[in-house]
Amino acid sequence: MAPCAHSSSSPLLTSKEEEKYADVKWDELEFALVPTDYMYVAKYKQGESFSEGEIVPYGDISISPCAGILNYGQGLFEGLKAYRTEDGRITLFRPEENALRMQIGADRLCMTPPSPDQFVEAVKQTVLANNKWVPPPGKGALYIRPLLIGTGAILGVASAPEYTFLIYTSPVGNYHKASSGLNLKVDDKHRRAHSGGTGGVKSCTNYSPVLKSLVEAKSSGFSDVLFLDAATGKNIEEISTCNIFILKGNIVSTPPTSGTILPGITRKTISELARDIGYQVQERDVSIDELLEAEEVFCTGTAMVLKAVDTVTFDDKNIKYKTGEEALSTKLHLMLTNIQTGVVENNKGWMVDISS
Ligand code: COI
Repeated sequence: MAPCAHSSSSPLLTSKEEEKYADVKWDELEFALVPTDYMYVAKYKQGESFSEGEIVPYGDISISPCAGILNYGQGLFEGLKAYRTEDGRITLFRPEENALRMQIGADRLCMTPPSPDQFVEAVKQTVLANNKWVPPPGKGALYIRPLLIGTGAILGVASAPEYTFLIYTSPVGNYHKASSGLNLKVDDKHRRAHSGGTGGVKSCTNYSPVLKSLVEAKSSGFSDVLFLDAATGKNIEEISTCNIFILKGNIVSTPPTSGTILPGITRKTISELARDIGYQVQERDVSIDELLEAEEVFCTGTAMVLKAVDTVTFDDKNIKYKTGEEALSTKLHLMLTNIQTGVVENNKGWMVDISS
């Protein structure tokens, strides 16, 4: 259940602080929609450029039954987060990376994207308009969901004559509720993406095909599903919503972004942080056999952040991995979250302060 507005005051906030916060049970945040006050909407019509965009009250949108997104799935989404720091600033984590990824996805789906500058500016405006919904420091983040969707009516298969760039937000906590590591099931039956397809962009259509596997795995008590490559069925690719890494010795390995997995921004960040502390990071095909022999396995994503994998089940094998205080995953998680929440100053330009 998503946390909802509460009737009594939170004992954790003084009345002055309460004024700057929406009425949310911050300690109970999950990864579930808590509607906020405003959203951003800009429109593009074939032959024109994107409209300036405006902040409007959050709510349902009206759309043609013949819209490109509804009929042919012409749509992309992004996910990024805003954080409130202990010293009262509101920051974004690498928003320009999402802006650039949307450019690439839009090209693949034949849509005109907003410029990277418009994207980042729109994200800032949306977060500032909803600043009451940015959780207190350490209680979660404001998840930002930009959409670029074909909203124009199109009956034959073609690019829609109108696109909508829309951004909405929701305060969120952890993606997976359990504080322990994930128990993954390897799906050897369904494939998530294939060479030349759209697995490498954040197309809306990449996500409903994972539902069948996910529902089956969850009903058997697993936390998530790991997909194999469609070409050989021998290499690991991606978890339903995030990227995967394995550790063996001093080498951290992750599947390459050659078109079938999402080029995750957290994936890129964690690779850099692991290199910074002396690990060799390899982006290469990783076989299922190597996965089963790894010392640690962990996954990364904006929603997921970084989560250790406790066990992987494949056929009749159930492998347990190192997790906990001494694990590399714990160290990298701390390095990342300390940067994101402003506990540690970041000299790589990853945090964008939008409060000043
Ligand atoms: C994200 O991590 O932002 C994602 O896009 C995952 C989402 C499908 C929940």
